[in-house]
Amino acid sequence: MSEFFDKLKEYAAYTEEGLDSIMPKRDNYQKVIYDAMRYSLLGGGKRIRPVLSLVTAELFGLDREMVKPFALAIELIHTSSLIHDDLPAMDNDDYRRGRLSCHKRFDEATAILAGDALLTYAFEVAGDGASSIITKAVVSGNEELARNASKVVGLLAARVGAEGMIGGQIIDLKAEDTAIDEYEHDTLCRLKTGCLMTVPAEISGLLAGKKETPEYVLLLDYSKSVGLAFQIRDDILDVEGDPNLLGKKTGMDDADNKTTFVTLYGIDGARHKLEELTSKAIADCRALMELDGCRKESAQFLIDLAGFLLERKY
Ligand code: IPE
Ligand code: IPE
Ligand code: MG
Ligand code: MG
Ligand code: MG
Repeated sequence: MSEFFDKLKEYAAYTEEGLDSIMPKRDNYQKVIYDAMRYSLLGGGKRIRPVLSLVTAELFGLDREMVKPFALAIELIHTSSLIHDDLPAMDNDDYRRGRLSCHKRFDEATAILAGDALLTYAFEVAGDGASSIITKAVVSGNEELARNASKVVGLLAARVGAEGMIGGQIIDLKAEDTAIDEYEHDTLCRLKTGCLMTVPAEISGLLAGKKETPEYVLLLDYSKSVGLAFQIRDDILDVEGDPNLLGKKTGMDDADNKTTFVTLYGIDGARHKLEELTSKAIADCRALMELDGCRKESAQFLIDLAGFLLERKY
């Protein structure tokens, strides 16, 4: 397991460095927006989504440099979603990643704009990344890669918009003060959290030309289970987690009167679902490991990651 934690740290450090280098400090007229973007982006966060990008790329034999821009873009998008999620108009949270949330450290208007700027910048980074792959693929005559790379930005946008993370967030707002049933709640979580947890595998699968292969189907199933499990753990931690470890306040879902896995199934029911989904994710990944065309060490990392996320305290 220490091998797993070393690798997890290494992926996170690689992400951190990448984010720092694409998000420079600026001393121009609009300095404050850069300060707010850097404040929320750097020096906190588990970086799970970029980790998923890097490891799924390696699983399918891709060079991690190829998916780096998309890994970073997904973390920019995720951070933008957290800034907006914390606003008074949404979850009204004062703490995030162990410090004041963006609108508390700066102000609401700055936080809205910092979220917008991170989201927009993500598509600049992803677009540049895709262009560079396409240019090289065209030069080397790899038409299939050029075609696949041209689909990445559209795919990413689809997972963020009204049929993706943002769609989930709007249902989540409805789930405050209005009871929603378990089916609607399932859709809510698959969108608000699941989409950004599965898109790393989708992008790696696309670039590796693996779509429709059995290994891709298993990886996508794994990612969907882990995505849902991730939100269950988040909901449980909101009830019984330690705010000092979490870096955000607990009891906020109850304060917002939200429908969560805990309100729908009780704490034991939620834990049971979390365990079931984790077992399913691990079983899918074990099956994946048996197939040709997958790097075994990466599959093992994904198995260990599911176990880590099951019990995470932060
Ligand atoms: C928090 O995501 C929001 C959810 C989707 C549950 P993370 O738990 O990944 O937050 P950071 O990036 O580590 O701060
Ligand atoms: C946030 O879910 C999901 C997104 C930001 C898309 P939560 O509202 O449960 O996340 P936390 O608990 O504030 O981190
Ligand atoms: Mg929320
Ligand atoms: Mg929230
Ligand atoms: Mg939460």
